[in-house]
Amino acid sequence: MSVVSSHYRVSPELAQQLGKVAVLLGGNSAERDVSLKSGGAVLEALLSAGVDAQAIDIKGSPLDCLKRVEFDRAFIALHGRGGEDGTIQGLLECLDIPYTGSGVMASALAMDKLRTKYLWQGVGLPTPPFVSLDCGEVDDHYFESIVARLGLPLSVKPAREGSSIGIKKARTLEELIEAYSEAIEFDAQVLIEKWIEGPEFTVAVLDGKALPVVGLSTNHIFYDYDAKYLADDTHYYLPSGLSEEKEQEIAKLSELACESVGCKGWARVDVMQDSHGEFWLLEVNTSPGMTDHSLVPMAAKHAGITFEELVVRILEDTIAVPKLLGSL
Ligand SMILES: Nc1ncnc2c1ncn2[C@@H]1O[C@H](COP(=O)(O)OP(=O)(O)OP(=O)(O)O)[C@@H](O)[C@H]1O
Ligand SMILES: [Mg+2]
Repeated sequence: MSVVSSHYRVSPELAQQLGKVAVLLGGNSAERDVSLKSGGAVLEALLSAGVDAQAIDIKGSPLDCLKRVEFDRAFIALHGRGGEDGTIQGLLECLDIPYTGSGVMASALAMDKLRTKYLWQGVGLPTPPFVSLDCGEVDDHYFESIVARLGLPLSVKPAREGSSIGIKKARTLEELIEAYSEAIEFDAQVLIEKWIEGPEFTVAVLDGKALPVVGLSTNHIFYDYDAKYLADDTHYYLPSGLSEEKEQEIAKLSELACESVGCKGWARVDVMQDSHGEFWLLEVNTSPGMTDHSLVPMAAKHAGITFEELVVRILEDTIAVPKLLGSL
């Protein structure tokens, strides 16, 4: 399905300023397939808007892939490790090529859900209580002590994955042990956190400001890979169904969540709401999905921003603003 819906074209001046744009897609992570879709949609939108763009499939050595083509700036449509975790960002910094989204530090931090949660705790932002486990500490008594401390159910997830890969809801001690042994296959660090029953929301943040909040519901146990990319019965609520006051609260919380991590350009924050109406931050995505099912384009559309305009706005951030030397 095409994402292009408008006749939006960039001005010839902007097209010239943007120069040759490489859309980095694919990648070597477990989210490769999703990234191919995101990148394909971004490329289609840029071409339709009159931007000189081409795709680079990052497969194998990223440096070799980047060296094959000449370009002036990069739109990063990669997801997960190797694309959203600061490594490709560092490579582009070394090559002196401007790129979309967060820099090295924020990308690396946001990829690591555990350390993001430490940071949010440190600045007083709400995130579900948790413990982390690495592959060295497996002992049944330890799992019992986790249940004693956090209760049940629990969410068990690899600390550095995306698209719900490796995530399970554990309702019993046995399920917890099983979920841990599955999650540890994806990452050497596993995050176990208190399960928040929901509802669930996601908030796109564009240039530091929240777009309209999207509410989500699924018949699956949670918003898993199938519910995200395949199912037709996932429901998206725009407007979110929250009161005006709550919508503002979650918007502010999401903006602070991004600011504290040091995100730049754009990001998407995933948030649960408990039965008392309190919000809990799950994670921030620094290179969110851009497929035709994706949530940032959905929120942007509700705010009157077409897919092409959104893509160009994210890309425009890569045009350097002259730095002021000293203070005025
Ligand atoms: N503590 C929790 N309580 C309730 N549900 C949770 C919890 N943690 C995760 N979930 C469910 O699992 C889904 C995926 O979790 P999370 O956003 O942390 O992982 P992800 O794989 O990085 O997601 P993304 O695709 O957004 O990158 C959430 O959208 C939510 O439905
Ligand atoms: Mg998520």
